Amino acid sequence: MRLLHAFILTVIAIAPLTSALDNGLGLTPVLGYNTWNAFYGSIDEDLVKGMVDLLVSSGLKKAGYEYFVIDDAWSNMARDDEGCISANSERFPSGMKSMSDYVHGKGLKFGMYSDAGERTCLGYPGSRDHEEVDAQAFAGWGVDFLKYDNCWAPASDWVIDRYTAMSKALNKTGRPIVYSMCDWGVGNPWLWAPQIANSWRTTGDVGPSWESLLRCLDNTIGLSRFAGPGGFNDPDMLEVGNPGLTEQEQRAMFGLWAILKSPLVIGTDLRKLSKAALKILTAEEVIAVNQDKLGVAGDLVYKEGPEEVYAGPLKDGSRAVALFNRHTSGTQYPISNITICWESIGLDPEEEADVRDLFAEKALGSFKGSWTGAVDLHDVRMVRITPKAARREHGEWRPWVQHRALHDAVRAQLPDRKAYTDFPLKLQRAQQQQARLTAATTVQ
Ligand SMILES: *[C@@H]1O[C@H](CO)[C@@H](O)[C@H](O)[C@H]1NC(C)=O
Ligand SMILES: *[C@@H]1O[C@H](CO)[C@@H](O)[C@H](O)[C@H]1NC(C)=O
Repeated sequence: MRLLHAFILTVIAIAPLTSALDNGLGLTPVLGYNTWNAFYGSIDEDLVKGMVDLLVSSGLKKAGYEYFVIDDAWSNMARDDEGCISANSERFPSGMKSMSDYVHGKGLKFGMYSDAGERTCLGYPGSRDHEEVDAQAFAGWGVDFLKYDNCWAPASDWVIDRYTAMSKALNKTGRPIVYSMCDWGVGNPWLWAPQIANSWRTTGDVGPSWESLLRCLDNTIGLSRFAGPGGFNDPDMLEVGNPGLTEQEQRAMFGLWAILKSPLVIGTDLRKLSKAALKILTAEEVIAVNQDKLGVAGDLVYKEGPEEVYAGPLKDGSRAVALFNRHTSGTQYPISNITICWESIGLDPEEEADVRDLFAEKALGSFKGSWTGAVDLHDVRMVRITPKAARREHGEWRPWVQHRALHDAVRAQLPDRKAYTDFPLKLQRAQQQQARLTAATTVQ
């Protein structure tokens, strides 16, 4: 098995990009709240203050949600005579410094929004060609985070130039400001954004529907190797708590986003937050996976039709694993038994490991070779798998190598495969199949 691993590593080793943005921020994904998914452009001072208060009183701040972000529609429709952007006089009469003070007064960090085009998506002034004056204004108001959108971009402008200009302008202010690129995945940002931003969108906007959630997820699969401390993939903000998703689907979104090391940014009306949604959003052991200091993103490591396994390494040598049941119909047999084999997460099949359910916060016992969990329709089971004996190799496993092997195994079924990669991958598949059949007897 070890020889086989070495062979696969040699054939398909892919180095991660390591030159992250040097602003000292975003070493783990941002946890926060943003007004867009719940309120779009219908925001004002009272609403914002109400949400800030609820973020604290609901216990979400205590769970780690730190950045409060005001999205589009905070400004006046035109710049003033000096070319400066200003708070909307009707809806934010006290101004942005006052909002910032309010947020900081609650022990939170303050985030704002602008756009790398001539206008924001709702038609307010964008920051293109005003990067420095706007960055100075944000810094002056005490902004700690900037979400930077991609509407109304002049066609002649290169996306990398537009996003780099704001990165430089923010740096020039001297104020540490988390830079969250919302370029919808345009221009394959994972290839270049790690050097200029703390996160980059991998997809278009998410919506409160199962189909939208799957699209955001699928567009982020295979990108784990580009993420790391200081810069993370962003499949967009959370829809947990919003109508349109079942409780299972909300849990699935939260667990998968956590393991992909996405920023976890709440976007729901906290006045209407259900107990179930609050429980998902405050799942301490799932948040701990997202915030693990190793900062290595999880990825898809095993797939059998609509049954998927996502996994990533944690700092202590454990694995975070999400078993995901994405069957489209299943009213008759909604529950899937999904097996994770130790080989898929870089553990020796002979090794014994403790398995802990992270949403249930419950130890499930000690297992050898594989573990099988029952997963409800459109739901995840999140577990932490900790080998009993710590070994140095445990910390070196990376999910993108396994993902690549999986990808190649699928391609291996195509007719014109080259023989040299064909053989070991087929062998690995056969061995995994064997392990599944012999080990998948107990279902938790
Ligand atoms: C600006 O960039 C320099 C060089 O990368 C870095 O050392 C510095 O910390 C940055 N400052 C801010 C405020 O981001
Ligand atoms: C899952 O496993 C349980 C327990 O072994 C079994 O009763 C059930 O039929 C299995 N479900 C499926 C869909 O295989």
